[in-house]
Amino acid sequence: MRILAGKTTDFLEGTMGVIWVGKHSLAIARVNGELRAFAGECPHRGAQLAQGRLIGPHLTCPWHEWKFDVLTGEGLTNPHARLTLFPISIEGQNVFVEVPDDWGV
Ligand code: FES
Repeated sequence: MRILAGKTTDFLEGTMGVIWVGKHSLAIARVNGELRAFAGECPHRGAQLAQGRLIGPHLTCPWHEWKFDVLTGEGLTNPHARLTLFPISIEGQNVFVEVPDDWGV
């Protein structure tokens, strides 16, 4: 399911935002000019990742401080706990994200 996440200008360098799709949070970050969209809940215990710290590409979860690379999705604290990245497409100024179909229900 393709959703409109916002305008390219909504996502500033070095910041994260979150939008809600049904009951799911979708986090969007811009690092080194690159946009990444990923499931907003931490794969460890479900904290909202957009409330964490983003320093360069390294995101630190607000609850137990596991670290992730938002550009690759890699789990830096636990390699088995990766971010779930979703494809982004940009058309003009619009940022679209492909999320699972069942997020809309
Ligand atoms: S909930 Fe994110 S590290 Fe525990």
